[in-house]
Amino acid sequence: MNVQTPSEKLVKPFDCQHYINGRYFPSEKGSTFDNINPATQEIIGSVAEGGKKEVDLAVAAARRALNGRWKNMTADERIRIIRKVGDIILERKDELARLETLDTGKPLSLSSTLDIPRAAFNFHFFADFMRGAGTEAYQTDDLAINYAIRRPVGVVGLINPWNLPLLLLTWKLAPCLAAGNTAVIKPAELTPMTATLLGEICHDAGMPDGVVNIVHGFGPDSAGAALSEHPDVDAISFTGETTTGKVIMEAASKTLKKLSFELGGKNPNIIFADADMDEAVSTSLKSSFVNQGEVCMSGSRIYVEREAYDEFLNKFVEKTKKLKVGDPFDPDTNIGALISSEHTERVMNYIELAKREGGNILTGGKRPEGQESGCFLEPTIITGLSRNSRLIKEEIFGPVVTVIPFDDEEEVIAQANDTHYGLSATLWTNDLRRAHRVAGQIESGMVWVNSWFLRDLRTPFGGMKQSGLGREGGIHSLEFFSELTNICIKL
Ligand code: NAI
Ligand code: MG
Repeated sequence: MNVQTPSEKLVKPFDCQHYINGRYFPSEKGSTFDNINPATQEIIGSVAEGGKKEVDLAVAAARRALNGRWKNMTADERIRIIRKVGDIILERKDELARLETLDTGKPLSLSSTLDIPRAAFNFHFFADFMRGAGTEAYQTDDLAINYAIRRPVGVVGLINPWNLPLLLLTWKLAPCLAAGNTAVIKPAELTPMTATLLGEICHDAGMPDGVVNIVHGFGPDSAGAALSEHPDVDAISFTGETTTGKVIMEAASKTLKKLSFELGGKNPNIIFADADMDEAVSTSLKSSFVNQGEVCMSGSRIYVEREAYDEFLNKFVEKTKKLKVGDPFDPDTNIGALISSEHTERVMNYIELAKREGGNILTGGKRPEGQESGCFLEPTIITGLSRNSRLIKEEIFGPVVTVIPFDDEEEVIAQANDTHYGLSATLWTNDLRRAHRVAGQIESGMVWVNSWFLRDLRTPFGGMKQSGLGREGGIHSLEFFSELTNICIKL
């Protein structure tokens, strides 16, 4: 079997090729683009640039596998392979974490404790979940019995962002495979490395050829667009920007593909005066700045009840100043590099805008001295902006938060909901009734109370309003990745 494995050439540069039908391929025309390490801005490898041709090959391979070897296996065999993928990810954890950090600029301390272990757990979780999943059955007196059977949707396109590359890719891939589908993956162009290695890992786990295919490339006029408009793709699960979701929806409408979208957020973090302030401060540090603030659920709009405003802000600023920005491979680093120089520029533009609008930059607001060669930015806290500032309305997706005081519950709920987004919210209070009352009025798919990013993979994950379409997680993933056929038998 001619598998040209990336691990054989893990020496630099790392060339990311497509993985189609169990083999690594360059692009037909040989076209590639550079992969850049955002912490050093050095070229660390090349990426095959796929387009319609490569997507056609991948979709055809996925279709053959869907109706062939993958379908002909027993559910037990499929589950065993899916679990094995998780096992191999854990065995190769260090290598994967290193690649993820090189690609994204995130601290190695994060990729090795969050991204890669969660990627493995995604496979273990959905393999186990599948074993216990049933369907519905109803009996109508002695007249009829109805029961539903679950079948795969078919060939599914999985289009991924760069912020949590392997974690989010596998969050889709594991349930997709567990439900019996085959996949064509389009990794984010900025973070192709761990996805590339995943091809080899699937192969080593005994995944039949064509079940998992990976095509690299960009979005518009490239692999992403080709996948989302492909007539033989049955469904698309996409995580990324809201604007991209709208374009994909339009492309997918031609053959009415099933869609699941996890999109942007502008999430409120609401702190009532009765909260445990030290805990609110230390968790807000995470919800603001972990992964350089490049997290869809980051609590970028902080609202603090006026009585506690000064106390919170003093402690929050003091702790933020202590965060160490820099080399992602340094174990003491808290905040690594942003994903690219373009993105850093975009985030800096928001900071400049805040200054023009008369906002107060309490800390940060600039590139750290002596680190100009990488895409670094100090964690930034801004106050004094108006409710309609673009910094309050738009997703910045960087280490920048705004803090605003509020006087009463109703007012803060109205401000929290004053957005097109509705992904998540965080509430800090020790008043049980208030926690329930406010949580039920915030227009978002998820509300964290006295916590943040405390994940149970069985729960519905996703957003309302323009933050998404549908939910993933546990049974919700299974619902998306399968079709039900109801069978009615007259007795
Ligand atoms: P993006 O939307 O620019 O790109 C995401 C993926 O879509 C990439 O693979 C890209 O190549 C592809 N793409 C772009 N245009 C396309 C098109 N016309 N057709 C098909 N594919 C296309 O998003 P980015 O910048 O990679 O990720 C950041 C965004 O992702 C943020 O807005 C963030 O909030 C969101 N996100 C949402 C999450 C959620 O669970 N709700 C989780 C993580 C990120
Ligand atoms: Mg990269």
